[in-house]
Amino acid sequence: MSQLFSTLFVLSLGAQRCLGHSDSRSEKVIQCLTTSNVPQALPGTPEFAKSSSPHNLRLQFTPLAIAVPSTVSHVQAAVACGREHGVKVNAKSGGHSYGSHGIGGENGHLVIDLKLLNEVVVDPCTHIATVGSGAKLGNMAIALDVQGKRSIPHGLCPKVGVGGHVLHGGWGYSTHNHGLFLDYLEEVQVVTANSSVVTASKTQNPDLFWALRGAGMSFAIATRFKFRTIPQPAEIQLFYIPFVWTLPQAKTGWRVFQDYVASKARPKEMNIRVVLSSGAWVGAEGTIFLFEGAYHGSKADYELFIQPFKDTAMALGGFADFLNYPDVTSVGYMDSLLYANNNALLYPLPDAEQLESGPDDQISWLWIVSAIGGPNSVMSTISAPNSTSYSHRSSLFLWELGDQVNATSTYPSKAGIPWVNQFVDIVERKEGKKLGMYYNYADPTIGDHGAAGRRYWPGNYERLVGLKKVWDEGGVFENPQTVGR
Ligand SMILES: Cc1cc2nc3c(=O)[nH]c(=O)nc-3n(C[C@H](O)[C@H](O)[C@H](O)COP(=O)(O)OP(=O)(O)OC[C@H]3O[C@@H](n4cnc5c(N)ncnc54)[C@H](O)[C@@H]3O)c2cc1C
Ligand SMILES: *[C@@H]1O[C@H](CO)[C@@H](O)[C@H](O)[C@H]1NC(C)=O
Ligand SMILES: *[C@@H]1O[C@H](CO)[C@@H](O)[C@H](O)[C@H]1NC(C)=O
Ligand SMILES: *[C@@H]1O[C@H](CO)[C@@H](O)[C@H](O)[C@H]1NC(C)=O
Repeated sequence: MSQLFSTLFVLSLGAQRCLGHSDSRSEKVIQCLTTSNVPQALPGTPEFAKSSSPHNLRLQFTPLAIAVPSTVSHVQAAVACGREHGVKVNAKSGGHSYGSHGIGGENGHLVIDLKLLNEVVVDPCTHIATVGSGAKLGNMAIALDVQGKRSIPHGLCPKVGVGGHVLHGGWGYSTHNHGLFLDYLEEVQVVTANSSVVTASKTQNPDLFWALRGAGMSFAIATRFKFRTIPQPAEIQLFYIPFVWTLPQAKTGWRVFQDYVASKARPKEMNIRVVLSSGAWVGAEGTIFLFEGAYHGSKADYELFIQPFKDTAMALGGFADFLNYPDVTSVGYMDSLLYANNNALLYPLPDAEQLESGPDDQISWLWIVSAIGGPNSVMSTISAPNSTSYSHRSSLFLWELGDQVNATSTYPSKAGIPWVNQFVDIVERKEGKKLGMYYNYADPTIGDHGAAGRRYWPGNYERLVGLKKVWDEGGVFENPQTVGR
């Protein structure tokens, strides 16, 4: 504990000395924001520390300046300040990037913290929701509920920001039957690199609209979205089917799961994923396979449609009833968001998600494999395959490979990253190709710009590079993994 705190203390002293005496660029940008009446979080203040504190504590960076606009013209002025002083600019919405890209992904950015642009208004006639880009998923979900019992498919964590989430995908417990968050984007208002306010939609600036839906952070600062909404599902069955499996059980069990999710036996309404972690978490030998998800429909239908998978999996043994998970719970839509977020397996440690760790402490790894594709998934039909720059529409699985220690532990000497990447290598060797990557699960280790971009946007990268030249020739919006020029 003392080690972690002393490290942070030294870092913040260093930053203050630097900003106070030697970094004239920082002073100039701050002066420019002041002259333009753009609200800011000034270095050295608690607001600056809060605004620049990353979700992933392993990746700490210090911005040159932080603007906290409350109007679109503040955003325009802030972008101009960055551009004129040659400082890279990036938006921050919810700050949940695993690569700490919301604070730049490196030192020295002008961060535009959009937290004040957070209104949510649902039109009572069209049911179109107008949402500020700095709103959080939880606040948006509550507002949609209050203003007419509406919903939009999106991720599970209430504090994730609408801006970062929707511009790069956004999957959740409604994706298999309703698609991604970005499939519901009808129109977006952005501030471009030359500080113009531009609307992008299917009919206005369609190329920019295509690029924003998958690679948004490389092109503009989104300030306001218009979303199509859908009625909340009447009933959702949240289910948990936990196993602790030995290696032979796991091999067969994985095959059983894959066969089920890739078959027509799984109806559209069956949103399912598996969370893998070490059995040591619960004092058991083997690996935890927690199958869980949300079935949109009645309990009787759930029982009917899960049966082919459940019966075969149960026959393998290892059912972990001692984990005391509820079997299946019938809930309304809003409760489903709350319950899903309270999955005990995902949050076993206080502050657990904040630091990554290594093979010294393999008890902390957690892999979440979401079966969002498959023959009955709407993923490949809700939007045409190339109608957005999001490139992974035909994928069956979305893997999230995570490793973590609690915030009071010191960072382990042997990093877990090589250990995790070794697994990716094995899978890729079997598949005989490099796999795609999801920018919302940003991985700074896959390289910069082009190297990363061909993984994040396979098949679409060259077109994105062309559009980057059109919309941001000077590279105002750049982090280590943005689309190259
Ligand atoms: C606890 C947790 C749970 C998660 N759950 C899910 C989940 O269920 N499903 C899922 O799909 N993903 C999930 N994610 C991943 C999440 O979707 C991404 O981290 C997302 O990018 C976060 O958006 P943000 O606005 O909170 O982050 P930020 O760090 O603020 O931004 C992320 C990136 O988007 C850019 N950006 C943000 N706002 C704008 C804007 N207005 N205009 C232009 N660029 C912008 C930033 O510059 C940065 O590059 C989860 C992440 C965490 C940490
Ligand atoms: C998408 O693909 C179709 C068929 O290959 C093609 O006709 C169309 O022009 C493409 N659209 C875009 C926006 O690339
Ligand atoms: C954090 O992890 C360390 C090392 O595993 C452990 O000793 C400590 O008790 C944990 N602290 C909390 C608050 O869980
Ligand atoms: C801003 O950039 C866009 C895209 O390059 C361009 O179409 C527009 O004319 C520019 N506006 C101004 C005011 O320079």
